[in-house]
Amino acid sequence: MKARVLKTFEGLDKPVDALLIANSVDPHLDQSFFYFFDAPSGLFEGSVAVGHPDGQLDVLTSPLEAESAHAAAKVDPSARVHTVERDSAETMLPKLLDGAARVGLNYQELTHAWYERLAKALPSVTWVDASAAIRKARAIKDAEEIERLGRAAEIGSKVGREIPSLLKPGISELDLASEIEYRMNRHGASGRSFGTIVAFGAHGAEPHYAPGASTRLAPGSSIVCDFGAFYRRYASDITRSFRFGPADPEMREVHLTVERAQEAALATIRPGVAAKDVHNAAAAVIDASPFKGRLIHGVGHSIGLAVHDGWHYGPKVDDPLEEAMVFTVEPGIYLPGKGGVRIEDDVVVTHDGYRMLTTAPRGYLEVPA
Ligand code: GLY
Ligand code: MN
Ligand code: MN
Repeated sequence: MKARVLKTFEGLDKPVDALLIANSVDPHLDQSFFYFFDAPSGLFEGSVAVGHPDGQLDVLTSPLEAESAHAAAKVDPSARVHTVERDSAETMLPKLLDGAARVGLNYQELTHAWYERLAKALPSVTWVDASAAIRKARAIKDAEEIERLGRAAEIGSKVGREIPSLLKPGISELDLASEIEYRMNRHGASGRSFGTIVAFGAHGAEPHYAPGASTRLAPGSSIVCDFGAFYRRYASDITRSFRFGPADPEMREVHLTVERAQEAALATIRPGVAAKDVHNAAAAVIDASPFKGRLIHGVGHSIGLAVHDGWHYGPKVDDPLEEAMVFTVEPGIYLPGKGGVRIEDDVVVTHDGYRMLTTAPRGYLEVPA
């Protein structure tokens, strides 16, 4: 997409004659490929995109993906599709990069094997790390991206509203995770944006816990559900925490504290604010409570073509927020041996504040057991 290629060139601190994105095999696919080339389907393993300073894009793809590639090129006149046999993309590269002395690569994503192939095919090229410019371009979303992120968030929110009705004694963490993923697909997701987290009881104290088949819901459990949808390649990421009765006064207090922490973080969001100020606003609420020190991660990260889209914020991140950034706000409190509460929402920065993309209720909810 011409505007995205041009925007990335503008953000480079060292000039290049071309930008090159090369995919390996799943899961080593550089999502930046899809930032520049909006293919409606397909993995594009082994495919290469070459962006030029005038915004034109050459895409090398295998016959496997040709249909999707041509469909994308039909709506994007700046993209030219070349179909080559699998694993032979570099046969075309000297021609496409004819005269290019300096070529930008996404050092954050390119595999070493691809680097060696490129160095062999183009021995006189000077390679330049373009990853900061790519990350920066991707961090500021355009209208189409915000629309898709909003749709992905809506899907997550619909399922978030349905979870209380799914909580029954005896269901396993994996049962609930499967139901969440099934429902996201029924609401229009193309899949989950990451491995769904469902944590009952003490498991909730582990932020990236993997759900199990043998842990079953029993009265007196706290529950953390962290899940997200892909909608037309764009991700959402939402966490809702519940109590399966009877109540526990401490876990209720934990929930109310996390809610206040999230509200404090949200209240800071507007263009120009340092990212660390958002984190620190949430951390200050938690550290002034009986749960001091139990926020054990940064309070958010950018979302986009990946659920962890390249930028996160924490106590030391000075980067200023900018309009059209989309990121999560997800404070949590984790009590080892007892459980945890995390509340996570997706927001877009507007000219004077933010707009919430996720809308499922986040308040303390005790579901009768
Ligand atoms: N889903 C993992 C996270 O919230 O970052
Ligand atoms: Mn999450
Ligand atoms: Mn997250």
